[in-house]
Amino acid sequence: MTASRFVGRVRAVGVVVVVMAVAGCESDRATRDRVSFGRTIYVRECARCHGPKGDGYPGVYPALAGNPIATLDSPEPMIEIVDRGRAAMPGFEGQIPPQNIAAVISYVRGAWGNGASPVKPNEVK
Ligand code: HEC
Repeated sequence: MTASRFVGRVRAVGVVVVVMAVAGCESDRATRDRVSFGRTIYVRECARCHGPKGDGYPGVYPALAGNPIATLDSPEPMIEIVDRGRAAMPGFEGQIPPQNIAAVISYVRGAWGNGASPVKPNEVK
């Protein structure tokens, strides 16, 4: 291999590494932004029933901290409840944009010691 071809190859690898690093940072940052935006949505839309700390009101509104549905590996059941509502809970589909639904679900799944992963807007139809 000539010296110049070698340099060319090193440069190409460098570009790939930089592109991957930037993409990684972007998506981490996007996730962090979504979760912190979700906190705002929670305070605005959910806290009046589920409590500012997710501890709910026993016998009336379920706690979301440590809630089995909010901490499932699959976010589907929680997406379904937040979209369509259930019993005394209103549905939010069509009331707030899907990005806000994804944000608030991401926040709740990770808040107050809940250890579940965030969701992306395209998971919330
Ligand atoms: C008007 C009060 C009210 C509001 C506002 C509300 N919820 Fe609920 N939520 C409830 C009630 C009541 C239930 C229990 C429904 C049932 O009986 O199955 C519930 C259930 C849930 C559940 C399922 C947990 C379980 O154990 O049943 C989740 C998750 C949830 N709510 C998330 C949210 C999120 C996120 C928001 C805001 C976007 C929100 N809720 C807004 C009243 C409310």
